[in-house]
Amino acid sequence: LYGSQRLNSKGFNIAIQSESQWLAEQRQAFMHHQWQAGPIVNGQSLLDGSLESVISPYNPEDQVGNIVWATDEHVAKAMQSAYDGWAVWNATPVSERAACFQRVADLLEANIAELIALCHREAGKTIQDGIDEIREAVDFCRYYALQGLQMFGTEQVMPGPTGESNHLYWQGRGIFVCISPWNFPLAIFMGQVVAALVSGNTVIAKPAEQTSLIAHRAVELLLEAGIPANVIQFLPGDGATVGAKLVADERIGGVVFTGSTQTAQAINQQLAARKGAIIPLIAETGGQNAMIVDSTALPEQVVRDVVQSAFASAGQRCSALRVLFVQQDVAPRILELLAGAMAELKVGDPSALSTDVGPVIDSDAKQLLVSHINQMQQEAELIAEGAVPSSQKGYFIAPTAFKIDSMAQLQQENFGPILHVVTYAAQALDQLIDQINLAGYGLTLGIHTRNEATAEYIDQRVRIGNVYINRNQIGAVVGVQPFGGQGLSGTGPKAGGPHYLYRFATERTRTVNT
Ligand code: SER
Repeated sequence: LYGSQRLNSKGFNIAIQSESQWLAEQRQAFMHHQWQAGPIVNGQSLLDGSLESVISPYNPEDQVGNIVWATDEHVAKAMQSAYDGWAVWNATPVSERAACFQRVADLLEANIAELIALCHREAGKTIQDGIDEIREAVDFCRYYALQGLQMFGTEQVMPGPTGESNHLYWQGRGIFVCISPWNFPLAIFMGQVVAALVSGNTVIAKPAEQTSLIAHRAVELLLEAGIPANVIQFLPGDGATVGAKLVADERIGGVVFTGSTQTAQAINQQLAARKGAIIPLIAETGGQNAMIVDSTALPEQVVRDVVQSAFASAGQRCSALRVLFVQQDVAPRILELLAGAMAELKVGDPSALSTDVGPVIDSDAKQLLVSHINQMQQEAELIAEGAVPSSQKGYFIAPTAFKIDSMAQLQQENFGPILHVVTYAAQALDQLIDQINLAGYGLTLGIHTRNEATAEYIDQRVRIGNVYINRNQIGAVVGVQPFGGQGLSGTGPKAGGPHYLYRFATERTRTVNT
């Protein structure tokens, strides 16, 4: 009912001039603003360490603010505060907990211009991506608040055959460590934190280093909305200094992580090797996402959806299309249309409304993508390559498409605007499904066909979390398309879905001899 009752955030429509103009005017106040961020421990913003400046990925001359990284002392204090805060927060009626997140959602909406400017300057997001980012964060707050009320609001009365009263109910697990990525610096950050908090856990949040200013602002809003000081702790820093120490601590009750498969596996190993309780890891990781296009598909629709799936957000979505399988007989037409559409993509300053593809996140990301492109130039056929205007000094990668022989040619996920195309003969459909399953990832799959039986055949055989038929394969909507993968792509449960909160909680039975 959530989606059909239009409870999702409306956001802004930049095609309507009055809306885009209002946003542009409001954003202006933040286009030269300098944000300051550091650890927030027990409600205190700790900014008295050595400051590191934060530079925008699209313009190295744009200093966005300064950050103080968390130290061992901050980690220790945050852990103690989160430990002390748990019992009271877990016993707080869920109606009160949930009301906090409705207020957080209101605050996100009230501060949308600042948050879009931050997403734009710190993470290089286009205006549309910035709007979508805030909307998704708002949706997570409101959706998990409602889910929390349903799940924690009642106790289930069990039979009492011996005259005792028996109740089954859910409660928080303790301290949840939330480790979030830079590609959805507000939405996924909020999604993890709100899910953990509404379920009765206290939280220690470690954001991706690249987007710590955005996450810091989010924590300020959580505190402003009334989350108690010892319930949310914020520790910006790298995996070795902060993340690994948090994961090693015996006092934690669970870890939620979104990021690379390798890091998820490292966290999993660390959890298995440490002393202390057996606790859940909720991981949402990468994908080697494919789309299958057969000869009945509508070419124009295919190309529109391919371009969105592969190049929107500069390809920096875990859901993004990486390998396009096109049936041989329609491949020449589709690749011709694709090259034409790619030539129209505008790469550049993400604050311009007309920009389609902004920068990648940082210099390391750009280097990895450049070396992949160099390798592909040796061993694959170039289909099309966009252009980065020479005036752009940031970390840009032009949208690029290569024809390769097989998915097995790709060693790892390439997290940027690079598409690989494989052509296939109709009778090879089963081999292609095998290629997708053997790659081991299982996040998104697109299918384009007008033959329902083909769509059903593929859908039943792939081991993929989110399958999209005759549309693009990005932009899962909270409460509408619960999102998350299988295999190397993650542990489940699905974010923005009705079962997500269960993994953050634990079941208890209370028996009273009456
Ligand atoms: N939830 C995002 C999407 O569906 C993840 O990358 O695109």
